Amino acid sequence: MRTEDRPARSITSFQHPDDVFEALFQSIQGGEKHVRPPIVLTPDSPFLQFIEVGYALRACLEDRSRRDYLIQRLRPHLSAIIGTLPASLLPHGMLPRTAPPPGFRPLEQISDAEVRAWLAEDGSLIYGEFQRYELDNYFEAIAPLIPPGGVMVDLGSGLGKVVMSAALAFPFQRCIGVELMGYRHAMAIERLHVLLALARQGLAALPSPLTPDTPLQLPFGGPAHGSHLLDLAARIAFIEADMFKVDVRGASLVFMYSTCFGPLMDALGDKLAREMREGALVSTTTYALKHPAFRLLHYFPAGTIAWTSVMLYQRVGPLATLAPATAQAAYEPDPEAWEERVRRDLAALDGAA
Ligand SMILES: C[S@@+](CC[C@H](N)C(=O)[O-])C[C@H]1O[C@@H](n2cnc3c(N)ncnc32)[C@H](O)[C@@H]1O
Repeated sequence: MRTEDRPARSITSFQHPDDVFEALFQSIQGGEKHVRPPIVLTPDSPFLQFIEVGYALRACLEDRSRRDYLIQRLRPHLSAIIGTLPASLLPHGMLPRTAPPPGFRPLEQISDAEVRAWLAEDGSLIYGEFQRYELDNYFEAIAPLIPPGGVMVDLGSGLGKVVMSAALAFPFQRCIGVELMGYRHAMAIERLHVLLALARQGLAALPSPLTPDTPLQLPFGGPAHGSHLLDLAARIAFIEADMFKVDVRGASLVFMYSTCFGPLMDALGDKLAREMREGALVSTTTYALKHPAFRLLHYFPAGTIAWTSVMLYQRVGPLATLAPATAQAAYEPDPEAWEERVRRDLAALDGAA
C-alpha cells in the first residue's frame, strides 16, 4: 500500500498513450482545501429550509444568553453532529451572513425533527476526499472486481476527482457524479473541461494516432481500446441533484466517500437495496452499510488503503426475501463530554471575536 503520492513523472511530450494517461491523472487536482463560498440565499434555493434552521441555530450561538438553550436543543441529536459544533455554525461555515428575511422562524418554533434533519445535512455537506495515493490504493484493491462495461456512480461527487479518475482507470462505460451543492457541481464541470482539453491535446500530439480499436493497457483496469480515451467526454457526466432523488438502478459500482454521511447510512442502504441489481458493488468509507441486501466483500481497516476504513459490498438476494434492516446509530458521543467541548469551543470563539 502506498502511504504517499508517487513522484510525478514529468510529461514533456506525448509519445505513447501512457503519457496521455499520466498527464490526465496529474491534471486532476485535489480539492480538499477549496474555498467554500456561502450558500446563496434566494427564494427558490433548495437550501432555503437548511438556511432557515441554520440561521435560528446560529442566532442562539451568537447570543450568549441563549447558549444553554442551543445546547439543550442539540443534545438529543449528538449522533447526527459531526465534530463538536456543527460546521455551518462556525465562522467559516457556509451559511450566508446576510440578515434573515422576514418570516424565518426562531429556534423555539423549529421542531426537533427539523433540527435533526438539519444536523444530518450539515454533516453531509462537509467536504473531504481521498488523497491521490489513497485513490491509487483503492483502485488497485478494486481493480480485480471491475469487469469491462458497467456504470460507476459517485453519490456526493464533490469536485469530481473520483469520477474522472475512475473513468481513466477502468473500462466503465460511464462514470457519473451526483452532487447537491451547485458550486461544487460547477467546479467539477470546470475541472472536466480542463481534463477533456488536455485529453484532446495529448491525443492530437501522439505520433501514431489512436483509433477506437487500438489496443490499450489501462493503468489499473487491464486491457481496453482507443475508444476508452477517444470517448472520454461521453463516458463522464456530472449531475447537480440530491442523491436521494437520483435512481441508481443501472449502476454496477456506487462509490460514496461516506465519512460524513453517518446519520444518512440507513436511508442510503435502503435506497441502494431497492434500486441496485444483484451482484452490483457499493463502497463506503468510515461507515458500514448495515443492510442485509449487502454482503461485505472486503474490509480495509483505517490506515491501510486510506486514513479511514473502506468497505466494499455486493448487492445480494431479491429484496422481497430480505429481513428489514435494523436501524443503527452511527455513533453516540458522551453528552457530558460533548457539552464540555462545546462550552470550550464557544469560549474560544468568543476569544477570537
Ligand atoms: C465527503 S465529500 C466527497 C466528494 C467526492 N465523492 C470525493 O470523494 O472526492 C461528500 C459530498 O457529498 C455531497 N452531498 C451531501 N449530501 C448530498 C446529497 N443529498 N446529494 C448529493 N450530494 C450530497 C457534499 O456536498 C459533498 O460534496
